[in-house]
Amino acid sequence: MSCSPDRAALLAMTRHELHAAARQYFKTAGPTEPEVALVACGSERVVFKDYGRGRGWFARLIAPILIWREASGLAHLRHVDGVPKLVRRVDCRGLLIEYCPGVPWGQARPGEAAYQRLSKLLATVHRAGIAHGDLRGGGNFLVDINDRPYIVDFVARVKRGSAWNIPWNWVFNQFVAADDSALIKLRARHAPHLLDDDDREAMAYRGRFERAARATGATVRRVTRRFAPRD
Ligand SMILES: Nc1ncnc2c1ncn2[C@@H]1O[C@H](COP(=O)(O)OP(=O)(O)O)[C@@H](O)[C@H]1O
Ligand SMILES: [Mg+2]
Repeated sequence: MSCSPDRAALLAMTRHELHAAARQYFKTAGPTEPEVALVACGSERVVFKDYGRGRGWFARLIAPILIWREASGLAHLRHVDGVPKLVRRVDCRGLLIEYCPGVPWGQARPGEAAYQRLSKLLATVHRAGIAHGDLRGGGNFLVDINDRPYIVDFVARVKRGSAWNIPWNWVFNQFVAADDSALIKLRARHAPHLLDDDDREAMAYRGRFERAARATGATVRRVTRRFAPRD
């Protein structure tokens, strides 16, 4: 399949050239975090997610696993409208991803249609056998000016197991429930008038479970930071 010269140029750029073509950084690198840049070439725009300029064991050993997790999650969901397509693996530490022309949910004022579409989108992702696993903060829900939703950042994704793998599928279902709960919280925060009785009941039920999960997450983050390089 042929592509535009701008696209062909993006497909051939080195890491250095991609950073040089960055228009904006959504995020600059932390010891355990990637750089996330909007890269432009002519009329083409892509997102560059990159651990490649990091130093130390995290960039060397963990980043390739995270990049592989995200790339394989995006490849699995390539037919889902609202999940960006994987454009290219730059190498084992960097990815080019289709740009979604939206902003994080909290920075927009989405209408009711956006919430309905987002619910459908998340259900489609789950039906395709992927739980996102990192929707709680809301920063991975994007929305454009036409109330079209997107879900990004599949590094924490969990795949459904084979039918016989009952223990794993129990875990998968917990992640699906956590995703659904994040969606209810998004409504509670930005559009409380859209909550119904089922949502309120689900919020109360999830409360206890999530407090325990948060405590575990905070411990994991503390331990990771403790051992992460500080340069
Ligand atoms: N495909 C994309 N299209 C548009 N913006 C994106 C895309 N991917 C990421 N972003 C922006 O960059 C931010 C950080 O990217 P993300 O993949 O969530 O990184 P991290 O894993 O560090 O949270 C997102 O919250 C979003 O604002
Ligand atoms: Mg994110």
